[in-house]
Amino acid sequence: MSVPAKTPPQKTSPKTFHVKSFGCQMNVYDGERMAELMAAEGMVATDDAHTADLVVLNTCHIREKATEKVYSDIGRVRKVAGAEGRTPMIAVAGCVAQAEGEEIVRRAKVDVVVGPQAYHNLPKLVADAVSGTAALDTDMPLASKFAALPARRKVAPGAFLTVQEGCDKFCTYCVVPYTRGAEISRPFAAIVDEAKALVDAGAREITLLGQNVNAWTDGDGRGLHDLIRALDRIHGLARIRYTTSHPNDMAQGLIDAHRDVESLMPFLHLPVQAGSDRVLRAMNRQHTRDGYLRLLDRIRAARPDIALSGDFIVGFPGETEAEFAETLSLVDAVGYAQAYSFKYSPRPGTPAATLGEQIAAEVMDERLQRLQAALNRDQAAFNAASVGRECSVLIERRGKRDGQWLGKSPWLQSVHVVGPHAIGDVLDVTLTQAGPLSLTGEVRALAAA
Ligand code: 5AD
Ligand code: SF4
Repeated sequence: MSVPAKTPPQKTSPKTFHVKSFGCQMNVYDGERMAELMAAEGMVATDDAHTADLVVLNTCHIREKATEKVYSDIGRVRKVAGAEGRTPMIAVAGCVAQAEGEEIVRRAKVDVVVGPQAYHNLPKLVADAVSGTAALDTDMPLASKFAALPARRKVAPGAFLTVQEGCDKFCTYCVVPYTRGAEISRPFAAIVDEAKALVDAGAREITLLGQNVNAWTDGDGRGLHDLIRALDRIHGLARIRYTTSHPNDMAQGLIDAHRDVESLMPFLHLPVQAGSDRVLRAMNRQHTRDGYLRLLDRIRAARPDIALSGDFIVGFPGETEAEFAETLSLVDAVGYAQAYSFKYSPRPGTPAATLGEQIAAEVMDERLQRLQAALNRDQAAFNAASVGRECSVLIERRGKRDGQWLGKSPWLQSVHVVGPHAIGDVLDVTLTQAGPLSLTGEVRALAAA
């Protein structure tokens, strides 16, 4: 039998697919939209990456060894499927796809590479790959992909809605302005329509997403608070959240919305990254320690019970022990309800990656441990102080024990309740017991819709 050497291997169109999303909530949203796209093409979603005909790895590039992890994931998918004599198609999506582009095709011979701004083309790229054409799309077109996506159908009670993408801030450690591109805001009406579709599909809570979500604008003077006030009027939508915000884009209108809009939950993720002004300057954060603390005072004046969350980086190049101590003292001053903390990781192509004075791994480990001890202490204290509060809980899933359900308080705490409830119920609850990571509540009533 003679097969021309250059003929690509014959592929059949995939019938089943699995999307695996890594990283931030925006990737979770993108993963859901890619799944909807492929379902609209007649493909069937499977929960098991190892039996799917097409595996989409929706990758994250924000920290440590992201690229190497993708290559090892590709290897693992191939190995498990190969043991059963199958060769699934593999598509790499997300920020590693954007950053690495063709290199992934060269190195791992995957079928499709698609960036975060191009995934509406995924079905076409898969078809191209089936016919043996190279299928790579990392364009960042000006026209938004959103209009090309199918309508929302079935969603969890807590749904995500991307309203803004990209970032113009250029913090010196961060790869986002390069992988996600410049800030773009989706149009007001498109967002309101999608929110209504999400509520019709079962959402009770919507979290508005953006790399820099509080920079959302319609270009005509309307800001995120106007959008929140419009969504507040959607019947059946009980709760609104938004993430992630930059301190410099916290407009007075948004602070006022925290005072006035009942469905806007009293929770704010407002990363500060570090407590030292020298480090903040080197990070190009464009705000000071004191400016951040004064902003929090204004937000707390508008909404005294607001739960604060943040992101921190330890071991930024040149960070001294005294500067790190300023991060700890800022944490003490704020009292976060929860927070995320990371060791600095040099990202190729970012200004900070070329700075001298990279901090030794042991020093970073030790600082991270101290910071996390302080943050865990504050989270436990916040939870303990919540005992006795009466609040709503949105049920998201069954708990481990019989009759037990797990939901979220307005302050984004996990709350266990027992009773004849259902996913999507919004319950009136008294918080009765607190652990470091979750609480227990007693149900008083089903809350009014
Ligand atoms: N190293 C460590 N953490 C980082 N983050 C972003 N870039 C880096 C990096 N190079 C963190 C920041 C940001 C969060 C999403 O990830 O804290 O807010
Ligand atoms: Fe990255 Fe956030 Fe800074 Fe933008 S504001 S560059 S997304 S850390």
